[in-house]
Amino acid sequence: MDLDPDPGVVEVELVASAFQVEYLEGKLADVWVYRDGSLEGAAGGVPGPLLDVNQGDHVVVHFRNDLPEETTIHWHGLRVPNAADGTPTTQLAVAPGETFTYEFDAPDAGTFWYHPHVASDVQIERGLYGPIVVRGGVEPNVAVERILMLDDIKLEATGQLSTETDPLDIMLGRQGNVRLVNGHVDATARASAGSRERWRIVNAANGRYFNLTLLGRELLVIGWDGGLLTEPYATERLLVAPGERYDLLVDIAGSAGDTLTLQTLHYDRGHNIPDPGPLDLFSLELTNEGDPPGPLPTEWGSVEPLAVDDSTPILDLVLTEEEGADPSFFINGERFPDVTPTEATAGTTAIWSIRNDAEMDHPFHLHGMFFQVLDVAGVPPDQLGWKDTVNIPQQTTLRFAVRYGEPGRWMYHCHILEHAERGMMGELALSTARVQADSGASLVRPTVTFARPSSIGR
Ligand code: C2O
Ligand code: CU
Repeated sequence: MDLDPDPGVVEVELVASAFQVEYLEGKLADVWVYRDGSLEGAAGGVPGPLLDVNQGDHVVVHFRNDLPEETTIHWHGLRVPNAADGTPTTQLAVAPGETFTYEFDAPDAGTFWYHPHVASDVQIERGLYGPIVVRGGVEPNVAVERILMLDDIKLEATGQLSTETDPLDIMLGRQGNVRLVNGHVDATARASAGSRERWRIVNAANGRYFNLTLLGRELLVIGWDGGLLTEPYATERLLVAPGERYDLLVDIAGSAGDTLTLQTLHYDRGHNIPDPGPLDLFSLELTNEGDPPGPLPTEWGSVEPLAVDDSTPILDLVLTEEEGADPSFFINGERFPDVTPTEATAGTTAIWSIRNDAEMDHPFHLHGMFFQVLDVAGVPPDQLGWKDTVNIPQQTTLRFAVRYGEPGRWMYHCHILEHAERGMMGELALSTARVQADSGASLVRPTVTFARPSSIGR
């Protein structure tokens, strides 16, 4: 609940606490959740409450930690001031019973998410994550907007979350035996046949890749992590690595009475990881004939390619791993927290060339700023858009261009959480510009506020 009457300010209270949910019928699981602290008796849940704001809003989050462990909140993908980034380099972790206020503007429209940045492999797995939608820019006409937070968990026969982490969980990133969509096993929803929906997809899993298909129908991808693309593209399969977001338009083709099922297909991310498919994630029951969708917008996001040339500085990073009883992960041979920060000047542009020398894919995330992929194994992508998390396939080099954001200490890491927490994490130290920042494309797009879609599926 917004506590500030000013329409340009969103002020909320968020509490993290222990809770119980019923993942399996009749069996309780002890989880950790976020809830709205301003609503008396508000139930917590997995995922936590949607933070729904307009582009340009000022956001104040009063956080209280009612967990038995220290924690923080990181606003994944939001370009917040460094002091609000919620990592151990930007703040002391919030001790049990303590509070912390996060304050930032929401400069970019898109789909983001929040989660802890302390023992993230354990805390996110227990249920601490929630969606963020920043509205603005082009709003395609849709019957329904759904946020689909994808996750998987390892459940015991008792219905409780497994608290054992074996070397395989660490090596591969824990893959659960139960898949969740918005905290539900076998999630279902109703939809209107013939209508168009917007789906905002977030992969909140520790290690699982979701390789999505909707019975082979076309999914129209309109946005990535950092907002709308300049040009949407259609695909029948969509790979969503941990931490990534995709914004989709989906035509609900069929007739009343049909069921459409979103599935995840097998994807080979290395090390012979058992990942059978197809597996069901989410079913839509078509209950009625809907209104035929109106025309699509003719213009989408405005994304200027970042200007890079032979004089653009290049940062080389190499990702490696060491198998064994205590698997370890490294960036440039260093294991977090024993790392040498990468130093650079705020506001300048650089190329990051990241070589994945491991025998599995690693999803790479940079805090506090967006980047544009230049090429993967030398091949440029077909689309232009902003990313903050990108999959780097095994034995492959990926290059991206980044315009450094605000001064401060920004983390970068693998978003397979077991890897991040066991070394595959580094730090970018940005100092204030000594010279005028270059006049490259500004990431800030104009603030336009549109009416909100009629309903949000959760
Ligand atoms: Cu979603 Cu540093 O994380
Ligand atoms: Cu990794």
